[in-house]
Amino acid sequence: MVSKIISVSGKGGVGKSTLLVLMLKHVISSKKYNDILVIDADPDANIGDIIGQEVGFKQTVGGKMTLLKDKIQKRQIPLEVSKNQIIESEVFDALIELDDFDLLEMGRGEGEGCYCSVNNSLKHIIDVLSKNYDIVLIDAPAGLEHFARRTGQDVTDLVIVTDASKMGFHTMERIVEVTNEVKLDFKNILVIGNRFPEDMKNLLTERVEKVKDSRVKFLGILPNDDEISKINLLEKNLLDISSENSFYKSAEELFAKIF
Ligand SMILES: Nc1ncnc2c1ncn2[C@@H]1O[C@H](COP(=O)(O)OP(=O)(O)OP(=O)(O)O)[C@@H](O)[C@H]1O
Ligand SMILES: [Mg+2]
Repeated sequence: MVSKIISVSGKGGVGKSTLLVLMLKHVISSKKYNDILVIDADPDANIGDIIGQEVGFKQTVGGKMTLLKDKIQKRQIPLEVSKNQIIESEVFDALIELDDFDLLEMGRGEGEGCYCSVNNSLKHIIDVLSKNYDIVLIDAPAGLEHFARRTGQDVTDLVIVTDASKMGFHTMERIVEVTNEVKLDFKNILVIGNRFPEDMKNLLTERVEKVKDSRVKFLGILPNDDEISKINLLEKNLLDISSENSFYKSAEELFAKIF
């Protein structure tokens, strides 16, 4: 039985994928969870990039679904198999088994409307897959609305990342609103300020207090860090960051409050 499903969301480019990968490193090294699944639900699939794992289109859920459509059109699928069974088998096929965790890249379908249908299957995919894991980490697309409506019911914690910007704060508030509108049952909604100047911290804590929702908590801030930029620019595997790295250590202090 899955004990935790954690989804990371926030405005585009604020550091969601970066923090998700550092969270993954923390989860792996804590040795508290045996079976770990990472779902990259961002259509511009980039968790693979960050961890030096090239994932071709054919290996993504979107890619599998596109091939499936071809097979259906060519009537290569036996009639007695249900649609859900087919989709499930394609999803298991898309799973990438790595040494310490499994990775599922949602990717996007080809052609108009396909991205949508990939995301529509996300809720079902989480339900089916999560049974086999102790913990599931989800990199959620920035536009949470659509995603949330389909998938949120089982997601236990939501981490919202923001930078020190009006748009980042606005997206944070909008995400909380959406979870209410669609009655998503998150246990905790945790806000992290990333690339956030220490002397502006109170602007974020005040804003989080104003949300007036008992689930929403301020988790802390993390600074802009040159080492993180360097790892990114040199295309190194972020999972290989030293556990003594000061940014990683600060991030771990925040994550320890979640796990
Ligand atoms: N604390 C930090 N210090 C320096 N650079 C950072 C920091 N956090 C993130 N970055 C850099 O910012 C860029 C965007 O980060 P990332 O890809 O994690 O954001 P994202 O929210 O996942 O973006 P997207 O919405 O496009 O998926 C990357 O180049 C990353 O290396
Ligand atoms: Mg990302």
